[in-house]
Amino acid sequence: MPELASLGREAPHASLRRARDRDRPLDGAWDFKLVGRPEEAPAALVQKRGWRTVDVPGLWTMQGYGRPQYTNVVMPFAEPPPAVPEQNETGLYRTTFTVPRALRRRPAIVHFGGCEGALYVLVNGEPVGIAKDARTPAEFDVTEHMRFGEPNELVAVVVRWSDASFVEDQDQWWHAGLPRSIRVISPSVRDVRWRGELDGSFRVDAEPGDGVARLFDRHGKVVAESRLGEEGGLRRPELWSAESPALYRLEVTAGNEPVSCDVGFRTVEVRDRRLLVNGKAITIAGVNRHEHDDRRGRAVTRAGMEQDVALMKRFNVNAVRTSHYPNDPYWLELCDRHGLYVVDEANIESHAYYDELCDDPRYRAQWVERVANMVERDKNHPSVILWSLGNESGYGANHDAAAGWVRRRDPSRPLHYEGAIKLDLHGGRAATDVVCPMYADVDTIVAFAEEETGDPRPLVLCEYSHAMGNSNGGLADYWAAFRRHGALQGGFVWEWVDHGIRDGDRWSYGGDFGDEPHDGNFCADGLVWPDRTPHPALEELKFLAQPVDVTSRGAGRYRIRNRRDFTSLADLTVTWELTADGEPVSDGKLPALRIEPGDAKDVSVLLPAGDGERFVTFRFHDAEGREVARVQLPAGGRPARAARRGKAFAGELFPDLVVAQPRLQLWRAPTDNDGLPLVADKHVGPLDRWLALGLDRDDLSAVATHTERRRELPDGSILVENTVELADGVDDLPRVGVVLHLRPGLEQLEWYGRGPWEAYSDRLSSTVVGRFRSTVTGEYVPYIAPQEHGHHPDTRWLRLTDERGEGIEVRGVPTIGFGASHFTAGDLTAARHTDELVPRAETILSLDHAQRGLGTASCGPDTAEAHRLRERRYAFAYVVRRISAP
Ligand code: GAL
Ligand code: MG
Repeated sequence: MPELASLGREAPHASLRRARDRDRPLDGAWDFKLVGRPEEAPAALVQKRGWRTVDVPGLWTMQGYGRPQYTNVVMPFAEPPPAVPEQNETGLYRTTFTVPRALRRRPAIVHFGGCEGALYVLVNGEPVGIAKDARTPAEFDVTEHMRFGEPNELVAVVVRWSDASFVEDQDQWWHAGLPRSIRVISPSVRDVRWRGELDGSFRVDAEPGDGVARLFDRHGKVVAESRLGEEGGLRRPELWSAESPALYRLEVTAGNEPVSCDVGFRTVEVRDRRLLVNGKAITIAGVNRHEHDDRRGRAVTRAGMEQDVALMKRFNVNAVRTSHYPNDPYWLELCDRHGLYVVDEANIESHAYYDELCDDPRYRAQWVERVANMVERDKNHPSVILWSLGNESGYGANHDAAAGWVRRRDPSRPLHYEGAIKLDLHGGRAATDVVCPMYADVDTIVAFAEEETGDPRPLVLCEYSHAMGNSNGGLADYWAAFRRHGALQGGFVWEWVDHGIRDGDRWSYGGDFGDEPHDGNFCADGLVWPDRTPHPALEELKFLAQPVDVTSRGAGRYRIRNRRDFTSLADLTVTWELTADGEPVSDGKLPALRIEPGDAKDVSVLLPAGDGERFVTFRFHDAEGREVARVQLPAGGRPARAARRGKAFAGELFPDLVVAQPRLQLWRAPTDNDGLPLVADKHVGPLDRWLALGLDRDDLSAVATHTERRRELPDGSILVENTVELADGVDDLPRVGVVLHLRPGLEQLEWYGRGPWEAYSDRLSSTVVGRFRSTVTGEYVPYIAPQEHGHHPDTRWLRLTDERGEGIEVRGVPTIGFGASHFTAGDLTAARHTDELVPRAETILSLDHAQRGLGTASCGPDTAEAHRLRERRYAFAYVVRRISAP
C-alpha cells in the first residue's frame, strides 16, 4: 500500500549522543530464519526449528542467504508499481533485551538505524509498527508492551520487496536485511535543533523545550550558555568550513537528561549565481559516495568510513554527495570533524518509473516523509550544505510537496534536485536552488556560465566524469572551466568506490551470482577499488583540485597562488627541485608562505645554468609530511636528439631479446568507455565500429598498410621508421603503434617520461616528467573488468632488463608512448574478470605513436575531438639498442 509510508513510527529527530544507560545497543548475534513469502512468516515465527544466527547489523544477502542482485535502471522484477512478486524473501530476526526497572518511568523506544526491505516490528508478540524508508532510523515506542527488568522478545520481519522498492531503485546492488545499528533508548530529550550565525549568536530549541544549552570548545571548556528557545551568543566564534572545520560541542539538558551533538557556525546561501559558504563562493571538488563494503555490502563499518574520509581529504576532495540516500549518521560526524561539504540526499529514486511516481498521489506521503526523515535527522550537521530531494525520479508534484516542507522547516540550507533542471537548466526553481546537471559536457556548462540570465543559481554538476574502469578522460577540461567561470562551482565525480563484491580472489559484479536481470560491471565505476586502493584517476582529481597553483613569470620568478577559500598557505612547506634529463641538479626550500585565500605572491628561485631537458618541480607538504600539491614547469633545454643516419638494415631486431618482432597494433583491450563490453545491449563509444572493421584481428592488411624501414646507427642501435596508411573508411582508431614480445626475464623497467602512474592524452595533468622505475608485473592495473591500462605517453626512453642488467632500450624520436605487460591486448579483451588472466612469461611491449584518449562515454561525453586519432597517415620512429650487463 504505497499511501502508507509508515505506521506507528516515532517522529524523526536529530542524531544525539546519550548517556550509556539511556542508549543500549542491540547489535550482535540475532536469531534468523529466511522464508520465501511474507505469508509464511507467522507460522515460521512460532516454529522452534530452523533458526540460525546472523550478525546484526548485516545483510542476509551477504551472509549466505538469498543473493545480491545488481541492476541500474530496471526493477529486479516485472510487476508494475505498486505490485510485487509473490515469491518475496522474508527475513525473520529475533533477539531479547532487558531494560532495568529503574528506567520504567521513561519511554522505551526501539531504534533501527535502517532496514533494507519493509520492516514489521513486534515486541513480546505484539505488533508495534511498520517502516519503509531503508536509510533513516525507524523508532517505535514499545513502553506499553514491555516487561521492565525482564527479558523481552524483539522480532523484526523484513520483507524484501514492497511498494517502497519502486522508490529505492538506485543504481546499486539490491540487498536485504538490517544494515545499521539497532538499540533501545530511554529518552527524555526527543529532539534538539541548533541555529548558529556568523556573528556568534545562536539559538537552541529542544523537545521538551525547557532546559539549558551549553557550548563547549574543543578543549572541553564551556564558552557559552543559554536557555532553550532563547538567543545565546559567543564572541568571535570560529567558523566551520571544509578547510577549517571548527566544531563546538552542544550539550542540552532537559527533563534531567543531558544529550549532545557537534555543531558549527556557518551559513550557506545562493546569491548572484554563487553558492556561498560563510559569504564566500566555494569550489566543489566532490565525489558521489555509495555505502559499499566488498564483504558486507551496504552494512558499512566505522573503520571503513574513517578510511574513506581520510582518503578523500588526502586526495583534495572537499565535498561528498551521499548518493543516493542518507548515510550512516557516523559518516556525517566524520564530515563535520574532518571537513567535507555534504549534499545530503533523500532516499528516493524511482528510475524505472521515472515520470510516473513523482506525480502519483499514492506515493506523495512516501516522498515527503523520506525527505523529512533526512532533514530532521541531519539538521544540526554543519557539513550538510544542501538538501537533495533524491535522484532520477523525474520531476513532479511530489517533489514540490517535499520541497515546500523543507523550505518551511529549514530555510537555512538551499535545495538540490537534478530532475528539476533536467529538461531546462533554467527550470525547476521550486525544487532546486542550484543548477545541478549530470554528465553535461564542458561546452554546455560554459554556455550556461556565459549566458546573460536572470536565473540567480550557480551550476554544480551533481555527477560528472564517470569513473568506470580506466576513465576520467577530459577531467582537466572541466576544471579549466570551473577555474575560469565563477558560476561554475565544480561538481561531484561519479563515483567514489567500485561496488565489486569479494568473491574468492576477485571482485564480482552483476550477473556473477546468477542474478537476473543485471547490468554487468556498470557498478564498478569508482575512483577507488573496493578495498580503497586509489585508481590512477584519483591522482588526476587530486592534482586538479589542489589548493595551490604556480606559474612561471620568467627569469627564475614564479607566482604562487592560494586557491583556498578560507585559509592561508602558512601550514604548507614548499620545496623545489630542478632536474635535467630526469636527473636531479639542485633543490631548495622556500620560506613559509603567508598568502591569504585567493591571493598570489611571487618568489625567486636560483636555477643554475646547465644542459639537457630541464624541469623545475614545486612540492607542497602539510604538517604531517603529506604532499598536497605539486606543480612541474619546464625550465628550458631539450632532450638529446637521436642520430638518424645509418646504413640500411634488413635483419631482425636483436632476435635473442625480441622473440616476436614488431607488428602493427591498432587494437586496444576495450576500456569501459570504448563501449561497455560487459554490459548487455548497451552500445556507447566506438567499440562496435572497431569490431566491424576487424581491428582486433591479427591480419590488419584490409584496414592499413604498414611499412617499416630499419637502419643500423653507428653505435649499433637500430632506428625503425614506420608509416601507417589507413584504408578508406578507417578512422578514429584506438591506437596506432607496434607490439613486440621480449624474451622472458626482462622484468625490470625504467623510463624517462611521464609518470609515475599510467596516463593518456586526456588524463595526464597529474603526471610529471621524470625517471621512474617499475617492474613489468607492477605495471598491471587491476581494473575489475580487465581492459587497456598502463600506458605512458611522451616517453623519451625506456629500458627493460633482467636481473643481470641485460636487456633493451627504446628511444622515442623524439618521444613515444609505451606499455609493458605480461598480457597481450587480446588476453585482456577475452577476460571478464581479473582471475581469468594468466600472465605470460614474455614481456609484451606496446610502442604507441598515439592512443585515443579515454573520455567518459560509458556514461557521458565521448573522448574530445583533440584526443582522437583522425589522420589518414601516420609516421613515427624509434631506436632500439641492446643493453649489455654492466
Ligand atoms: C547516473 C545515476 C547514478 C549512476 C550513474 C551511472 O545517471 O544517477 O546513480 O547510475 O548514472 O553510473
Ligand atoms: Mg539511476
